[in-house]
Amino acid sequence: MSAVSLDEDGVAAGTAEQLFGVRLPLAARYVDLLTEQGVLRGLIGPREVPRLWQRHILNSAVVAELIPTGATVVDVGSGAGLPGVPLALARPDLTVTLLEPMARRVGWLTDVVAELGIPVEVVRGRAEEPDVQRRLGGADVVTARAVAPLAKLAGWCLPLVRPGGQLVALKGESAGDELARDADLVRRAGGSELSVVSCGLEVLPVPTTVIVVRRDTARTRDDLRRTRKDR
Ligand SMILES: C[S@@+](CC[C@H](N)C(=O)[O-])C[C@H]1O[C@@H](n2cnc3c(N)ncnc32)[C@H](O)[C@@H]1O
Repeated sequence: MSAVSLDEDGVAAGTAEQLFGVRLPLAARYVDLLTEQGVLRGLIGPREVPRLWQRHILNSAVVAELIPTGATVVDVGSGAGLPGVPLALARPDLTVTLLEPMARRVGWLTDVVAELGIPVEVVRGRAEEPDVQRRLGGADVVTARAVAPLAKLAGWCLPLVRPGGQLVALKGESAGDELARDADLVRRAGGSELSVVSCGLEVLPVPTTVIVVRRDTARTRDDLRRTRKDR
């Protein structure tokens, strides 16, 4: 299968240049790798190949507009590398870690990072595991795309975020409904300032809808429970 070019995917080359700058050839190489091996290795469906640029690569990269300069980012459930790899390519100032539990996907991510020559760490594990939380906790931003419903995601991911940092969950059009449904549980998990944000409004035909949750600077229920036990 050959990779689809930017214009075949209905994307203006200027948009991709704007997002990736001098690293656009690396983004194109990532598209090639997904096209050549991603389908064979069961990471993306064959129907995704013609829309890799628009629906996956650029859709992920535009989330960079929410991430502060020099932030540490943990991409939970990175799978094929989304959104972590496009974010690392669009924003070399970020320190990106890709977290993924499945060995086969960890192998793929390790190969991709080596092939692209980008300084991204790949860690095998689940977000909610104590070892993972010890190792990766304190991130400025945790991203997740298509990993779990919001309440579950907040329970897994907020402990990885430093107080005052953000969980950035890439969601579809139903983000508003999901937020309304899960808001109480997210607050109980230590989230605050919950909002739905559109990214890439000026560059993408369909912007990326994201739920942003700040980790409360006040202590979470788990912290309080731990403190009570320690007394
Ligand atoms: C549907 S895939 C999405 C992959 C990628 N984020 C994307 O958008 O293409 C969900 C990924 O989340 C991973 N995952 C599931 N539960 C997880 C957990 N508790 N912690 C970290 N990753 C998890 C799965 O192994 C899988 O690779």
